[in-house]
Amino acid sequence: MQKLEKRSWAEPFKIKVVEPLRMTTREYRERALKEAGYNTFLLRSRDVYIDLLTDSGTNAMSDNQWAGMMLGDEAYAGSENFYHLEAMVQQYYGYKYLVPTHQGRGAEHLISQILIKPGDYVPGNMYFTTTRLHQELAGGTFVDVIVDAAHDPEDLGPFKGNIDLEKLAKLIDRVGSKRIAYVTAAATVNMAGGQPISMQNLRELRELTNRHNIKVVLDATRAIENAWFIKQREAGYEQHSIAQILREMCSYTDACTMSGKKDLLVNIGGFLALNDDEIFEEARNLVVVYEGLHTYGGLAGRDLEAMARGIEEAVQEDHIRARIGQVEYVGERLLSIGIPIVQPIGGHAIFLDAKRFLPQVKQLEFPAQTLAAELYLESGIRTMERGIVSAGRNAETGEHNFPKLELVRLTFPRRVYTQAHCDVVTEAVEAVHDRREEIRGMEMVYEPKYLRFFQTRFEKLK
Ligand code: F0G
Repeated sequence: MQKLEKRSWAEPFKIKVVEPLRMTTREYRERALKEAGYNTFLLRSRDVYIDLLTDSGTNAMSDNQWAGMMLGDEAYAGSENFYHLEAMVQQYYGYKYLVPTHQGRGAEHLISQILIKPGDYVPGNMYFTTTRLHQELAGGTFVDVIVDAAHDPEDLGPFKGNIDLEKLAKLIDRVGSKRIAYVTAAATVNMAGGQPISMQNLRELRELTNRHNIKVVLDATRAIENAWFIKQREAGYEQHSIAQILREMCSYTDACTMSGKKDLLVNIGGFLALNDDEIFEEARNLVVVYEGLHTYGGLAGRDLEAMARGIEEAVQEDHIRARIGQVEYVGERLLSIGIPIVQPIGGHAIFLDAKRFLPQVKQLEFPAQTLAAELYLESGIRTMERGIVSAGRNAETGEHNFPKLELVRLTFPRRVYTQAHCDVVTEAVEAVHDRREEIRGMEMVYEPKYLRFFQTRFEKLK
């Protein structure tokens, strides 16, 4: 007799409300995809069966969060929910001041405008699309200082999100610490495949930046997922709680930008949190211009409440074990049938390696975009390109940036899909893999100026 497979990550919740899914035919999807210019961002969600486009704002809230929504204090100023959120951020992230924003990029905008002077450099562990754009719009130049292993989808290192401190030290030597606005440390690193940064690396980053009087801004969007990896992989943290690890991570930084739409189990919301009095003063001034009053930052009272409650749920070990367990379950099944994916498996998503999946498609024929389109066609599953289209163009030369990685991201919303859905996803990837040799690339027929991946249109190459 065979032994049963282990299910130690089983979902720590039961389902109280359901939302029906819509199945479509292949002919229907062919038409929908053509109308969407072969860009999965331009599909209508009603035409999608399993939506793995993003884990951003797609979370299922708990009954406790929904109950909190009814307690929204919709006052313009000083709502109760703001003070609740502020207390939760102080307790779990450990920063002194909170400035709520409508989502993560609102916080990125504020901190970029405040700390970057034209001509400054902003080193970070790999770019993120919105983060880098806000740095550039403020006159800064992003410099990638992530470890080289991050660019190698087959490297099995446990902390491929780490900052290469030598690269950073060289940059400081070359341009001088005064030209460095701050360092961004993302946890986990989205574009590297959801790879974590280690506590040791954060600690050493703090020592180096302290010596040069340089600030560190944490992109805490998925820091709770990062904390889980530290607990699993870094010596000395096995017995720490996720909440303790999160607090320690934040303690090595001066501020964080946060997209609550990920870790914090809500559909909208974000914040900037920080310790410095003067920067807070400036952020509190600017938030009124761009987001809303400093006690709501573009959010309704109910949204602030849902996020405050989300923080407490997100750091629960049962939750985070199941969340990452689900992603690992899919990743391991894909690996077992020989599908090329980024390893180790990341926290929020599986990244298919389109360069190895479709070696016949050249980078300028958009292999990852092509693969995302084929997956939709096959099964109605929506995924996202993270390759040359996402990488955009060089701000000065106007040439395409050519990233080393051409990935398709299968991103898992939190608490939304079941294990059976996960199996459907694996089968769909297998079906496309079986016919991979017939697949041709695409050409761009429309390209917008900013964050082009959202709206670019393609046609299939004949
Ligand atoms: N930082 C990281 C690491 C992110 O992944 C995102 C968003 C942001 C900042 C910006 O936050 O969307 O709330 O303004 N990532 C989404 C994604 C869009 O699909 O990966 P936002």
